[in-house]
Amino acid sequence: MLDDLDDLFALYCDPDVRKYIPDAPRNFEETREELEWHMNGHPKYPELGLWATIHKETNMFIGRCGLLPSMIDGQNEVEVAYLISKAFWGQGLGTEAAQAILKYGFEKLNLHRLICLIERENLASINVAKKIGMTFEKEGKDETGPFLLYSINKPPVPMANQREISRP
Ligand SMILES: CC(C)(COP(=O)(O)OP(=O)(O)OC[C@H]1O[C@@H](n2cnc3c(N)ncnc32)[C@H](O)[C@@H]1OP(=O)(O)O)[C@@H](O)C(=O)NCCC(=O)NCCS
Repeated sequence: MLDDLDDLFALYCDPDVRKYIPDAPRNFEETREELEWHMNGHPKYPELGLWATIHKETNMFIGRCGLLPSMIDGQNEVEVAYLISKAFWGQGLGTEAAQAILKYGFEKLNLHRLICLIERENLASINVAKKIGMTFEKEGKDETGPFLLYSINKPPVPMANQREISRP
């Protein structure tokens, strides 16, 4: 919602929060553009996008997390993106948000593979990726610099469900 604009801008003003987000909006206007861009989902892939992350206990806006399309080594990928306000770091919330988004991507959007692109020094993000079951796959480089690519494939359908599906 546009109501989140001030909170989102405050997030991006924190140098610790934006340290490993090389393409983060640099001012209020760019923040507004990003928010408007994502308000109806990603323009090309409307089922993807960045979404407000709301702290259940206080109803506060504490971040933006979501699923973003990207092209890596000529392959279409979907990236799990997470960013939490510094005041809320270290409480498991980044992991909780990333886990929920991963589940949404696999179960509701039926995606078969999800990735994270992470700068080598961003240990908190690497830990979140590992905690949601991702493993290191390869190093890469794009216009924003070098990254580590972590990935996870959709787990196979449990046997019980397979029987359920094949029943006439
Ligand atoms: C990455 C981020 C979302 C993690 O959020 P968080 O809510 O603090 O994460 P969690 O509390 O779920 O912690 C996940 C794990 O990382 C560890 N961790 C957290 N901060 C860490 C740090 N600075 N260095 C090393 N490990 C760290 C935690 O201890 C935890 O592991 P554990 O359960 O084994 O102890 C948060 O740091 C952030 O928003 N960073 C700025 C934006 C960003 O870089 N996003 C990722 C871009 S790729």
